[in-house]
Formats: sequence, C-alpha cells, structure tokens
Amino acid sequence: EKAGYDHFMLKEIYEQPKAYRDTMMGRVSDDGKTVTLKEIGMTTEQIKAIRKVHIVACGTAFHAGLVGKTIIENLARIPVETDVASEYRYRSPIITPDTLVIVVSQSGETADTLAALREAKRNGARVLAVTNVVGSSVAREADDVIITQAGPEIAVASTKAYTSQLIAFSLFGLYLAEVLGTKDGAWVAEVIDAMHQLPEQVEAILAQANVLKQVAESISKHDNLFFIGRGVDFAVAQEGSLKLKEISYIHSEAYAAGELKHGTLALIEEGIPVIAVITQEDLYEKTLSNIKEVKARGAHVLAIVNEGMEHEVAKSVDETFVIPKTLQVLAPALSVVPLQLIAYYASLARGNDVDKPRNLAKSVTVE
Ligand code: F6R
Repeated sequence: EKAGYDHFMLKEIYEQPKAYRDTMMGRVSDDGKTVTLKEIGMTTEQIKAIRKVHIVACGTAFHAGLVGKTIIENLARIPVETDVASEYRYRSPIITPDTLVIVVSQSGETADTLAALREAKRNGARVLAVTNVVGSSVAREADDVIITQAGPEIAVASTKAYTSQLIAFSLFGLYLAEVLGTKDGAWVAEVIDAMHQLPEQVEAILAQANVLKQVAESISKHDNLFFIGRGVDFAVAQEGSLKLKEISYIHSEAYAAGELKHGTLALIEEGIPVIAVITQEDLYEKTLSNIKEVKARGAHVLAIVNEGMEHEVAKSVDETFVIPKTLQVLAPALSVVPLQLIAYYASLARGNDVDKPRNLAKSVTVE
C-alpha cells in the first residue's frame, strides 16, 4: 500500500500535486475566473457582518493557520488572530457573534481543537472547519466545512494535509474577496491561474529530491539548527522546523529573521546550519541582512529562494535551492516542499522510524 515508496511520508509528499488538484476540483468556475464554494452556507449578509476571524488548530494545522491569517488579511482585509487550540479556551478569547472561528484539523478528531470549536459555538460564533476527514467530529459539529481532498494521510508527520490546507485557505480567501469586493476580478483570476500551476511546480521541486537528500545528510550530523524567514516565510520556517524535529529528533528553532539579534544570535556558532526561506520580494533585502548577521558568526546558510531572486541571494549564502516562481501569497505551497524532503531524508540518515516517530500519535484525542 506504499505504492513502491519506502515510507508513507515519502508517498504522501509525492501525492501533493494530486492533492492540490483535488482540493481545487469543483471549487473554481469553468472559465477559471471565480471560486465557488458551495459548501459554505453563509449568506452574503453574514459574510459582510464578519468583523474578525480566529484561526485555531494544533501543530502543523496551526502552521497552516498562520499562512491562512496572511491570506485572509491580505485578500479580505478582515483582522485575523491565530491561536494554538490548547491555549485558546484558557485565555478567555473575545468571541462574539460577528467572529468567524476557523478550526483546522487533518483528522477532525483532535481533542483541543474540538474543544475550541465548542467554546466558539457556545459564544455564538459561526465555525468553519477545514478538515481532511468527512464525518469527523469537527466536520459534524462545525457550521460550514471545507474538506481538503488530500486523501488518507498515514505517516504521523503531516505533509499533504498541510499543503491542502494552504490551498483551502487560498480558495476561502478568494471567496471572501469576491463576496466583499476587496479584490478585483482580474486579480482573482490571476491568483486562480497561479494556483493551477502549483501542481507542476511541485513536481519540478520533487524532481530535485536528490539535492535535498544531500543537504539532509549533512544536516543529520548536527544537533542544532535554525530556520529563519519573514512574513509567510516565517510561518513556513516554523513548519519546516517542526517537521525536522518530529522525525529526525534534531533540535531546531524557527525564528523571525529580524528577531535573531534580540537574543538568539548568541547561539549561532561556527558551522551551525541555518535554513532561510526567502520568497517575498518585498522582504528579501531585509532577510539578507539577517543572513549576513549569522554568516558573520560562522553559520552555514542554505536559502530556499524563489526563481528570480536566486542570483542576488546566492551572493550572501552558501547554498541555494530555487523554487519555481509564483505569487507571493502562494509561495508557502511550494517553499514547504523542500523542507519536508529535508526532514524526511534527515530522519532516514539517522536511521529513525520515519512514519512512526517516537512519542507521537497520528491523532491526539486527549487534551
Ligand atoms: C505534525 C503533525 C501534528 C498535527 C496535529 C494536529 O506533523 O502531524 O502537529 O498537525 O497533531 O492534528 P490534526 O490536524 O489532525 O488536528
């Protein structure tokens, strides 16, 4: 059932192009100009009445929510807060009937996420669930459900579910933009077109897996590393760091690139690997100056950079891995893929059980 792959995780990484296509299928008009989310029962009036959005989830699903925040704020101009579900209920969040609470859960059974959903409903908010499992607890209890069409995810480390969640957020963001009129039709069509290109672009990244295997093998000899980025690149850095920790058992930290100098820079020493995610044209010069800070202290820097910026970035780093060009808001759907492969190959190099990492369960049904 691993279809020729050594591990479910690798199979699921390679299923991402299909997962992207399937998650978009039936949700874009035939002319490719508009998003149609028939599963959203909210009326135009209800959507216009949304004053704020809370995105609540755990782990990797939470990291998808961090990207979702940027998407919704940029596309729909509605303020979004993000919380990990285990914190949400206990901070007395200000949930009002004009709050839309979005819970994100691959399994739809995560106890903390389900409890957050119930808390939201008790306070009169409308709840939208983004989940991979039809008929799951989260799907049954939410008001609206967007099913990610990633197919079953077996490996404990989530990959295709995460990227499908990014696609779902992009679709929902576009849908809000259409209803609220926050973006013009030509722009929406441009984003949809760019989304249609993502599957092939992921294939192009997968075709370079060997390069990432080599990177991972050298990383596997270290006990510490850093991931840095700004904006959505920071969100992706957090996901890359989690993925690496959970299956390779190598300690890593994800840092907002500009925040390093406020303390963490003290940990940078000769030879430490730093993986920088740089996909946002308007931010890359800032991230480059942070890269210079770590380089000056002996760090070995790999930049995950998007096409067009690689020559500029290459001057300041040790290695670059180039991802195909896409719109800034969609970049996470590509930039995370090399990080998934690095985590996979680092785990493999260390001889770990890739699909069943120690101490972890696929579905966390205790709080
Ligand atoms: C990490 C991972 C976990 C889950 C988290 C939430 O690779 O898989 O962090 O993302 O336990 O699970 P779901 O999405 O099922 O609620």
